[in-house]
Amino acid sequence: MEKVINWLDARFPLTASYKAHLSEYFAPKNFNFWYYFGSLALMVLVIQIVTGIFLTMNYKPDAQLAFGSVEYIMRDVPLGWLIRYTHSTGASAFFIVVYLHMFRGLIYGSFRQPRELIWIFGMLIYLVLMGEAFFGYLLPWGQMSYWGAQVIVNLFSAVPFVGDALSTLIRGDFVVSDATLNRFFALHVIAMPLVLVGLVAAHLVALHEVGSNNPDGVEIKKHKGENGHPLDGIPFHPYYTVKDILGVTVFLIVFTSILFFAPEMGGYFLEANNFVPADSLKTPQHIAPVWYFTPYYAILRAVPPLFGSQFPGVAAMGVSVMIFFALPWLDKSPVKSIRYRGPKFKIALALFVIAFLGLGFLGTQPPSPTYTLISRILSVVYFLFFLLMPWYTKHDSYKTEPERVTDK
Ligand code: HEM
Repeated sequence: MEKVINWLDARFPLTASYKAHLSEYFAPKNFNFWYYFGSLALMVLVIQIVTGIFLTMNYKPDAQLAFGSVEYIMRDVPLGWLIRYTHSTGASAFFIVVYLHMFRGLIYGSFRQPRELIWIFGMLIYLVLMGEAFFGYLLPWGQMSYWGAQVIVNLFSAVPFVGDALSTLIRGDFVVSDATLNRFFALHVIAMPLVLVGLVAAHLVALHEVGSNNPDGVEIKKHKGENGHPLDGIPFHPYYTVKDILGVTVFLIVFTSILFFAPEMGGYFLEANNFVPADSLKTPQHIAPVWYFTPYYAILRAVPPLFGSQFPGVAAMGVSVMIFFALPWLDKSPVKSIRYRGPKFKIALALFVIAFLGLGFLGTQPPSPTYTLISRILSVVYFLFFLLMPWYTKHDSYKTEPERVTDK
């Protein structure tokens, strides 16, 4: 074995990489619950790729055959139902995990200097993930697939001047059709996953360059021992590899419970209408995106049209996602972690969470005058969280950060 490793090491940095990224990569010793979600996101990514490969073996990207091929996978392919439900449940699980992962970044200031680029790569991952989910949702060619895609692609028509050309380019046709299904399939199974994996690699390289933040928001590299290792750091392997197994176990218990007992999750993970084949002549009563898009969908609907143009809503929706990129430069607090921040930040964050969840709920509901009013109020709260951040983080009280992490 030693000989094999020596042979490899002379040709490839195997042992060096193992040391640099695992056995001698020092992570803060005070990681808590919130630090499970990075490794869980990695695991869900692998689950999606593996189940996706097996689905592709039996799926037909053809408007005449797609719906039937999914039913065939569900009923006739050995374990096809398991693979399909793992993939569909995995899509929602991915967003749950990624939203919690992003929230951790918010509460501990992980997006702050020197980790801006980790955050930017993370945001790019998030955008690609949204594209991936959107393209994938068309593939079963059910009513919601069809009409959801129709609504979302039509939004691009609202872009001034180039709108119509742009939406035709995306569809490959004047309506969602077989051509659309083919290109969405190509994007879903190869283009987006490739970019996603590349971005995740970049995300982790950037992370290992600067090192992880932690719940105290203090830099462990400031205090190193005689051996050059951070005093508050512990080797990633075995400490965090073992700890992450706990996260994986709990996650898999919850994940498989949903997968085996409630794969549709009351219509939130798989909508009833999507068990009806796409019909271009029958528009469903109520078209709503899957839950992970609904906060932005609610913002879209909250903004009234201007001179008959939908563009303001579309623009607001776009900005509501993109504004996360700016976080590293909006936060002016002298401390990173919520543990040492003052009441202004805590109140702002609480209001933001209420707005995000509230909009998420409203986006699933058919519009009504009351709901539209609430959506408008929550949209304003959502944007104010970002726009006022330079002010309330600068003028907030704060506790002095400790020099070292406070893990007991
Ligand atoms: C496929 C999706 C993603 C994967 C596989 C992934 C993976 C990881 C992993 C393994 C870590 C280290 C462990 C941890 O801190 O939990 C990490 C850290 C981090 N990620 Fe992600 N991530 C993903 C998406 C995102 C997104 C969407 C964002 C934000 C927009 C983000 C922002 C961050 C930040 C700021 C850190 C450093 C956290 C800290 O040190 O406190 N990640 N990511």
